[in-house]
Amino acid sequence: MKYITTPIYYINAEPHIGHAYTTIAADILARYYRNRGKKVFFLTGTDEHGQKIQKAAKNQKLKPKELADQISAIYQETWRKLDIQNDFFIRTTDLAHEKYVQDFLSRLYRKGDIYKDTYKGLYCVGCEAYISEDDLVDGKCLLHNIEPQKIEEDVYFFRLSKYQNHLKKVIETDIFKIRPVERKNEVLSFINQGLNDVAISRSKIKWGIKLPWDKNHTCYVWTDALLNYLSALKITKIKAWPPDVQLMAKDILRFHAVIWPAMLSAAEETLPKNIFAHGFFTVEGKKISKTLGNVVDPIVIAEKYGVGPLRYFLFREFPFGEDGDFSEKNLVKRYNSELADDFGNLLQRALSMVNKFKVKIIKKHREFRPNNLIEEKIESLDFQGALVEINRCIKGANSQIEKVKPWELVDNARKSAEIGLETDEKTKFDELFLHLISTLHLVSYYLEPFMPREILEVQKQLKDLKPEPIFPKIRNK
Ligand code: MSP
Repeated sequence: MKYITTPIYYINAEPHIGHAYTTIAADILARYYRNRGKKVFFLTGTDEHGQKIQKAAKNQKLKPKELADQISAIYQETWRKLDIQNDFFIRTTDLAHEKYVQDFLSRLYRKGDIYKDTYKGLYCVGCEAYISEDDLVDGKCLLHNIEPQKIEEDVYFFRLSKYQNHLKKVIETDIFKIRPVERKNEVLSFINQGLNDVAISRSKIKWGIKLPWDKNHTCYVWTDALLNYLSALKITKIKAWPPDVQLMAKDILRFHAVIWPAMLSAAEETLPKNIFAHGFFTVEGKKISKTLGNVVDPIVIAEKYGVGPLRYFLFREFPFGEDGDFSEKNLVKRYNSELADDFGNLLQRALSMVNKFKVKIIKKHREFRPNNLIEEKIESLDFQGALVEINRCIKGANSQIEKVKPWELVDNARKSAEIGLETDEKTKFDELFLHLISTLHLVSYYLEPFMPREILEVQKQLKDLKPEPIFPKIRNK
């Protein structure tokens, strides 16, 4: 069983292209493993408690749960439209999740890993996190461009400091593997500066799960949220623990790489195998923000260019672990050169010639041999590398057509003897079509996770041998 997770997204606003990015990445991986015959449990969902949501609901004159129902439904609808095949969708307002969180925290409380004290410091509602003076630029949180609140509250703390050495060990030895490796090193140097205990409850925020031993407190939203990865298995009764890959962007790596494994260790649960923090991307060179008005709705892009081309572009354009930029201009460029001119063209030419020259397609053309290089790249989450390799196969097949010029072989045969091809010409001809058709099968197989609905159509054409334009060129959009 491969257990793959995305973060659960806040429901204060609708999904944008950044949320789609991580979810599509998880879907690509999930589809890839399913195609390779593995059982998969792919989890995503929505994070519905906390101060940020309480505030957003108040601004819209809604109850928090009403807002949650609305936006969570939009998330689910968006994922469906983007061909995301998650196995379960968790909502943190699900009563079974709430119960799980209460039980889990009670265990830690009984063990003595949770104690009460006063928290005095800064809190950024945007991050939903306690932050320090060092995180500020001109008195504002760098990420959200807002001034943090000064808070003084009686809260419950989790003894994070107790797990410092243990964390260091499991991270250094890759028992708990953090990738890319630069991120692992960042986490280690953060731990080496010394870990303080962290607050796990709020006494002034009402919108949250009540602590079972002290009903005046609600669970701090991050503690509640992280436990979704466990509660979802409890709810679905799926045995998939521990996660094989937990995906997120670097913004929330510390929660997943420090607090999360410490909570799990305190509860004596096995740790996730891999945590991968991908980069953050900008849109047309700028940070995605409502105030700048450049929030890109993935559905709008998908309707304009197709779901598959959007999914393809996001993982072709920049390496998964690095920051990048999303621009429609570059999407159109990639689409036209790689999907229309290279892949679409190969499919059209090959199938047209199969028909025109009455090529006999036999089992051998369709035999599948795994490509180790592509598989290695996908499994190590180097999606761009996998696509580059796939494109190399496509380009190779196109240039083989140019080199062999099958139309000339047929022409010569007709001119000379009316009876067909000479033996060596026949061999060349057969080898070419074996190469073309098997390449098309191979690349379709590995492109399916990236562009599921388009590849379904490609595979239909490969079966029926009837070419139809699949990636028409985009002009002047
Ligand atoms: N609710 C928390 C996560 C709890 S998980 C136990 C949260 N939610 S969020 O809605 O803010 O989502 C953050 C995540 O969305 C990022 O970690 C990343 O996966 C994705 N992204 C949001 N904007 C993004 C970009 N601009 N670029 C890349 N990923 C982006 O944090």
